[in-house]
Amino acid sequence: MQVDLLSSWRIGPVEIPTRVVLAPMAGVSVQAFRRQGRRFGAGLVCSEMVSCAGLEHRNERTLGYLRIASDEHPLAVQIFGSNPATMAEAARMVEAAGADLVDINFGCPVKKVTKTGAGATLLEDSARATAIVQAVADAVAVPVTVKMRRGVENGAQTCLELGPRLVEAGAASLTLHPRSARQMYTGEADHSLTAELVELVGVPVVASGDITSCARAQSVLATSGAAAVMVGRAAQGNPWAIREIAGDSDAEPSREEIVAELLLFVRETARELGEKRATSFLKKFYGWYLGRGRFPRQFKQELTQLGTLDEVEKRLLAAVAGAAFVLSRLEQEHAPAAEVELDLPISIYGGG
Ligand SMILES: Cc1cc2nc3c(=O)[nH]c(=O)nc-3n(C[C@H](O)[C@H](O)[C@H](O)COP(=O)(O)O)c2cc1C
Repeated sequence: MQVDLLSSWRIGPVEIPTRVVLAPMAGVSVQAFRRQGRRFGAGLVCSEMVSCAGLEHRNERTLGYLRIASDEHPLAVQIFGSNPATMAEAARMVEAAGADLVDINFGCPVKKVTKTGAGATLLEDSARATAIVQAVADAVAVPVTVKMRRGVENGAQTCLELGPRLVEAGAASLTLHPRSARQMYTGEADHSLTAELVELVGVPVVASGDITSCARAQSVLATSGAAAVMVGRAAQGNPWAIREIAGDSDAEPSREEIVAELLLFVRETARELGEKRATSFLKKFYGWYLGRGRFPRQFKQELTQLGTLDEVEKRLLAAVAGAAFVLSRLEQEHAPAAEVELDLPISIYGGG
């Protein structure tokens, strides 16, 4: 049976308008990415993982992750850490910043994170993991969700033991990326585990991993009973994938649309991160937008060599002049939204 991905669902009291969730991705999920995702049909977007220690120490860059635009809702902010009290305090800050959901990261396999006892390591410490969820759920009024991997070692099924305990501790939804931490991104996401988890818990489960097309989303939802799919890598530089996965439109974008979306992304990211940080941050996006056989490889490489974003804009518009018209329409329709005013020392963060 076909699932209507354009139908709404709920996490606690939070209504989510579609069944496509944009994945949290470190170094990718900036505000511009999330706003674009919402525009293309993601019902829920998520910040990249935010360090609770960074929030505790009022680290300026970390606090910048709490900048939320008014047109991003519903939005989850994801936090990571290993100390229940610090996580609870971070969750309070996330709630004050205007997030609709606080998501907890029990999936990050990267050493820098796991060696501090956070991320995927917590899959093997169920007492601490449940204590974190409980402390966070007690600290905030918004629903608390958890994103996890199947376990640490290959073949592990830890998520099936831990999942129900996290729900008991207060998790209102679970997202499962059914790869082990050891696997990183190799092999395949085994969504038969997602189906097993759905059977074990009474809260919505979101399926993450290898959702790259509408057909794949339909098959994972039908066979797992998950409430929604999460899309990560397929949406990098390719918001049209979100539209296709949602079953809304499989029209290929024109060259003008691609370049206009990239230019809007460049401008918004420069505003958000400041010109200097944005210049290096954006390099990987040129390949993502212009790849997939859409533009010659040499052109992508040329863009990454340019020293300023102004030069990047000029070069893109010289290649596809018609993009200027599409861009001005996009900018009119999607002017930067107001941000929630924060009582936090982030006034000089980013480009203003
Ligand atoms: C560059 C990158 C950064 C990621 N950062 C995060 C993160 O901050 N928090 C998280 O829970 N998952 C993170 N993930 C995992 C994704 O959210 C997702 O679960 C995973 O990529 C599988 O989905 P996909 O096949 O659709 O990409 C990241 C993945 C990538 C590729």
